[in-house]
Amino acid sequence: MGTALAPATIDVIDLLMDQHEEIREAVARLAAAPSASRGDALRALAELIEAHEDMEARLLHPLAQRLPDGDALAHALVVEENRADELLGQLLAAGPDDRRFSALFAEFRGVILGHLVREERDEFRQLRTRIPAQELVDLADRAGENRIWL
Ligand SMILES: [Fe+2]
Ligand SMILES: [Fe+2]
Repeated sequence: MGTALAPATIDVIDLLMDQHEEIREAVARLAAAPSASRGDALRALAELIEAHEDMEARLLHPLAQRLPDGDALAHALVVEENRADELLGQLLAAGPDDRRFSALFAEFRGVILGHLVREERDEFRQLRTRIPAQELVDLADRAGENRIWL
């Protein structure tokens, strides 16, 4: 059949996509958590998001500057990240027993899930087609060496 073997290497987009899945799962876990474990679920989600956005800020958004309209794209994504961060801070400060928690969480969930989709659609896909594959693999290695994630 002449089917090519799947590449053995993973690139920085693979890492970030895995993290997006982890974030989606952590959001779902928090949404389903009984009130007694909501605080732990929220802190776990906050840690995941912080590490992920830090890695994107250091490794990924600088690459987006090389895309057509990359400045505008990176700016729009950072605005969303800042909004998600602000809402997350409000959730952490309020705590799960606060009566605003559900409304704040609903808003936060909409912002973060929309952000993940837009990044995948508008940024990751373009980076895959426009940045040399080896460069994306090297960035994944750098992320591993610096223990930016895991
Ligand atoms: Fe992001
Ligand atoms: Fe992301």
